Amino acid sequence: MTNATPRESLWVVSVQTAFPNMANPLGTLFGGHVMQLMDVGASIAAQRFCRQPVVTASTEPIDFRNPIHVGEIIELKCRVAWTGRTSMIVRCEVHGENPLTGERRLCTIGHLNFVAIGPDGRPTPVPALSVSTEMERHHWETGARVREDSERRRDRKVDEPTAGN
Ligand SMILES: CC(C)(COP(=O)(O)OP(=O)(O)OC[C@H]1O[C@@H](n2cnc3c(N)ncnc32)[C@H](O)[C@@H]1OP(=O)(O)O)[C@@H](O)C(=O)NCCC(=O)NCCS
Repeated sequence: MTNATPRESLWVVSVQTAFPNMANPLGTLFGGHVMQLMDVGASIAAQRFCRQPVVTASTEPIDFRNPIHVGEIIELKCRVAWTGRTSMIVRCEVHGENPLTGERRLCTIGHLNFVAIGPDGRPTPVPALSVSTEMERHHWETGARVREDSERRRDRKVDEPTAGN
């Protein structure tokens, strides 16, 4: 695989109903459930883009702006926003939608970092991302800032596990 030919990243869109077994006692979705949906959707976007196995390297902070209620439609959109040599930053946008009124609220926008893994089990190069539209440029610039944040975070000393049980 070479970085030479820029490749487009299309949205991966999924919709489903928010069922009671996904909710907390307030009747709104568990944040962890939304994060799982984002991880799965983002990994599909990353794999469709690079056509190689990928692992989630890290996630950026996820701020939940509005809840999604039981009975609403959960809409998840993911696309690769930025590419490095072997890593990809995937942008995920999650909305809740009232199926009766059509009212939509943004639940969150999050960025997840994926690394492509080669047959030797090590990070392997991904194609370069094609960036030409205004939306693609905006996503790329946001992704570049996300990358800077993640590098700064990784430069700080990594914490060690607590001794004992
Ligand atoms: C992510 C992982 C593959 C990185 O391996 P590594 O040997 O540290 O890789 P490198 O230092 O060569 O970095 C490879 C790329 O990953 C990026 N990267 C590494 N750790 C990262 C992190 N925590 N967040 C974002 N990107 C990261 C590097 O910036 C580099 O990107 P680039 O090639 O685009 O410049 C490795 O740490 C791993 O396998 N982690 C576990 C992943 C996993 O199991 N996820 C599911 C958890 S249950």
